[in-house]
Amino acid sequence: MTYNNNTPKCTLYLAPSTIPNAGLGIFTSIALPSGTPLPGGFDAAIPISDMDFHNDGSHDAEDYHWMFSEYLWSSASIGKVMEYEAEKTSGFSWGYGALPNCHFWMINVMESSCDFDTVGLTPENSPGAGAFTGHYNRLAHAYEDVKAGGELFVSYGTNWFTTRESYMGLVPGEDDFEAGEEFIETVSELFESLVDSTTVKDDVHYMGQVRVDIWNMIVNSPYKSRPLAALPKAYKTAVRAMDVGIMQTEEELATHSVEYLEEHGKCLDHIHPQNSTIPHAGRGAFATRYLPKGTVVSSAPLIHIPDRDILTMYDDSEDGESRDLSKPIGQQLLLNYCWGHPKSSMLLCPYSHGTPFINHDRQDPNVKIQWMKNDDRYHNSSWLDEPVSFFDSEWTTKLMFEYVALRDIQEGEEVLVDYGKEWEEAWNEHVKAWNPDENYVSPHELNKDYDLPLKTHEEDASVYTDIFGYHTGTDKKSGEREIHRIRARRPDPNNKNDGFVYDLEVIGSGNYVKRVKDVSRSQMHFYHKPYKADIFREGSFRHEMMIPDEMFPNAWRNL
Ligand SMILES: *[C@@H]1O[C@H](CO)[C@@H](O)[C@H](O)[C@H]1NC(C)=O
Ligand SMILES: *[C@@H]1O[C@H](CO)[C@@H](O)[C@H](O)[C@H]1NC(C)=O
Repeated sequence: MTYNNNTPKCTLYLAPSTIPNAGLGIFTSIALPSGTPLPGGFDAAIPISDMDFHNDGSHDAEDYHWMFSEYLWSSASIGKVMEYEAEKTSGFSWGYGALPNCHFWMINVMESSCDFDTVGLTPENSPGAGAFTGHYNRLAHAYEDVKAGGELFVSYGTNWFTTRESYMGLVPGEDDFEAGEEFIETVSELFESLVDSTTVKDDVHYMGQVRVDIWNMIVNSPYKSRPLAALPKAYKTAVRAMDVGIMQTEEELATHSVEYLEEHGKCLDHIHPQNSTIPHAGRGAFATRYLPKGTVVSSAPLIHIPDRDILTMYDDSEDGESRDLSKPIGQQLLLNYCWGHPKSSMLLCPYSHGTPFINHDRQDPNVKIQWMKNDDRYHNSSWLDEPVSFFDSEWTTKLMFEYVALRDIQEGEEVLVDYGKEWEEAWNEHVKAWNPDENYVSPHELNKDYDLPLKTHEEDASVYTDIFGYHTGTDKKSGEREIHRIRARRPDPNNKNDGFVYDLEVIGSGNYVKRVKDVSRSQMHFYHKPYKADIFREGSFRHEMMIPDEMFPNAWRNL
């Protein structure tokens, strides 16, 4: 890309990682002082529910092809709302949650957990309810000062690497860098003594070569360990590390020049999310700056799912231990965030910053998707000639979409792409057949407004059947207890204007029911029961987006 006055400025880039063999990483082209929010706005997270159960196998054992396990966060780190949605939920968080690499010594990005909000859309008022994720507002900020050009690193947790040793090799953890630092100090002393004891003038150069050889022997030793992996590979870097420490050299190495990013990087912050202008769509992607026609508005690596059937969810069998194949209950929400084709079992799911927020417009889209041009670092176009079976044994992402501006897009304009004819027909059918659910009770709405009177069991025994609550005890000992029933409601004596206190039956230890009196509303918190959230409701909209015929590879046609 040539840089001129018409090129919109970019502050967040996708580019080859500075960590060897680590694929792509993300970089800032502006200095980010510690505490600064990262460019590009918030992330969202898609709940992934009981994948192993619904596939009657283990993704670890590769019973089914599921690359997403590399990109998922535990629901506990996303937030309680997600944790309770199914038996075992994890969250796919596509931007800062999926793009950065991990370098234990240079973690410079921290992410918050998600909030939950469906932009006012509920099964009572919108056919869009349950068709998009309500987990959003996962915010990233600089945890350390980051220099312009610096690579951004998050913590995946040590466990992530230790369970992936067979193909990632030994990735050093924080302790290993400390051990490496001590080791290099010792070597430094040894090297100095090497010079000292042999200071015959003409031999200095000769001893220099000995030092290079010793260093190469150490780092290329057939014995592998994590501390060893923390040492700089190049002798030149090692010498600098003896001077300034490994940490400093690692930091110097983890930087691309801003010119490099402008020339080779892919911009990630031309778009940012906010409430969509499209009815029933939830959130959307908006232009951060003026984007002239032809601009690559975003680039997105694609996670492949060779067999889309793995997203089908099933009811329990009689024994409750396994799935009942005769009772499908719907598709994982993820389907709505992936691209496919009616003639193929393949799905491609983009995980770039912001692109999953881009909504549909068939009449007047302002961006279109296209394959990136072949580039060893980003996109291997020979994958477009491989059959679907080829992807069963591929565990990296090597395909990318570009979202290209079809006309000038003004700052603040919503970015819209055509999801295809089949998608639009399916959506129109869904809207026609949709009926509001007047009995719907949202636990999230209950949690937002403490003054809303809760119904007692006597008043309406069926009102809270799909949701459950917790009572947080006032003393530490009692902890959280599941609410069994609401027995009585009285105006709060300490809050004369509004508000109530409640008498509850809670499930105590040993599963016996215990009564508690005068519980204030702020001590109660509600969630959906497993498989009762909006995304699991019968008939909630599911459809992949359609890759246009003219760009869909013939080799992938298998249906
Ligand atoms: C987005 O919509 C929600 C729900 O309707 C509203 O509370 C919020 O203020 C909106 N946000 C913006 C930035 O307009
Ligand atoms: C691109 O993919 C082909 C398989 O289609 C593979 O043989 C080749 O090595 C790949 N190229 C790179 C640079 O990874």
